[in-house]
Amino acid sequence: MSKRTHSHGIALGSMLATVMLLASCGGGDKNSPGVEYMPDMYRGPAVEAYVDYGQDPYTRSEELAVSQRERPSARQPVAGTIPFSSDPAKAGFNMPYPYPNTVEGYEAAGVSLKDPIAMTEANVEKGKVIFMKFCQACHGEQGMGDGPVVNNGNYPAPPAYDGAQLKDLPEGKIFHSITYGKNIAMGAHASQLNKEERWLVTRYVQFLQNGGKMERGPVAAVAPAGN
Ligand code: HEC
Repeated sequence: MSKRTHSHGIALGSMLATVMLLASCGGGDKNSPGVEYMPDMYRGPAVEAYVDYGQDPYTRSEELAVSQRERPSARQPVAGTIPFSSDPAKAGFNMPYPYPNTVEGYEAAGVSLKDPIAMTEANVEKGKVIFMKFCQACHGEQGMGDGPVVNNGNYPAPPAYDGAQLKDLPEGKIFHSITYGKNIAMGAHASQLNKEERWLVTRYVQFLQNGGKMERGPVAAVAPAGN
């Protein structure tokens, strides 16, 4: 019984070898994939992203290939397309940012834009991770404007977060400046950080504005109204 199974295996093996040998014979054209057994299994009929079907003249007709050439299946989404989110709590992050990169947009964001992420220790910790990767090189670990890029070169030092200039900067303006950058010295971070990450790091900036505390304490009481 076991012997028979064994010889069966050999027969199957040599059959496979023959099929493989046959399959490798593609004639003289070095661009030919060779004889293909069931080409539909390699080239699924479903339209796949980033495939230029016009480059595949071997399994369809050359005419079809020519007509399809330069027509990849992936397209730019229609203007105004909003990415789908399966998490309703996070769907809002996919909405377009309504404030333009202008002085008016900056002022409006300062008044009405609020951080949807709670100021909790866990979120401040997450914001810190982002800050250490993307911001501390210029702003310094404590947000004093003394990061290695500033110390090692002639780069302009950003103002300290808890100094007079930035201490009362509202969260909407913080987010706006992270999104678009600020003047020429700080670049936009919208392509590196998604909105959720920008709001998390905003919380960490606020933590540093408060001098490394969750709440500012009594100082907040004398902050000018409107901030
Ligand atoms: C290449 C250096 C550099 C990097 C990286 C950088 N910044 Fe800045 N940032 C600056 C400088 C310089 C200023 C001051 C710009 C000015 O006022 O002209 C600034 C200003 C700011 C301000 C004040 C904005 C305002 O409206 O006045 C905030 C808030 C800020 N940065 C947060 C961040 C955060 C958060 C990150 C990381 C996601 C970051 N920055 C990354 C250099 C940098």
